[in-house]
Amino acid sequence: MTMRPTRESSDKQKNSNPIAEKEGALIPLLQKAQVQLGYISPEAVEEIAGVLDVSESEVYGVATFYAEFKLFRPGEHNIKVCMGTSCYLKGGRRLLDHLTRKLGIRAGSTTKDSKFSLETVACLGCCSKSPVISVDGVIYGDLSPSQVDSILSRLRSKA
Ligand code: FES
Repeated sequence: MTMRPTRESSDKQKNSNPIAEKEGALIPLLQKAQVQLGYISPEAVEEIAGVLDVSESEVYGVATFYAEFKLFRPGEHNIKVCMGTSCYLKGGRRLLDHLTRKLGIRAGSTTKDSKFSLETVACLGCCSKSPVISVDGVIYGDLSPSQVDSILSRLRSKA
């Protein structure tokens, strides 16, 4: 993966505030890494830090600030548990705890077999169906832990 800025972007950097330009260049490089890898790997962070001559902590600081950046390798099936107010009040935490136990991973990580990744989100936009999860972009609402088990079984049975 190449993270070098283009000549055009290098020319722009010469004419303005170098610190602001580095910060401005960081987000496009993070976006590029995410498109190429599906997430922001530690190697990508190291490379971006090197290209922009900033610390890896600065790169992580920006990457963790924006929800669009994933810092873990996505699984074959990505599960998002809504922890927005409505879902939280109607059992979102219970679903998250259940999934954590069933998958053996915490939110923001991927199972060792790469089958599932688990994350939390603020609101999936269908609060009337709380509690809600999204699996590979498909919304499941009014869920109980046993219904989550059925979804996991279905996904596991797919070869
Ligand atoms: S709070 Fe969960 S969908 Fe809105």
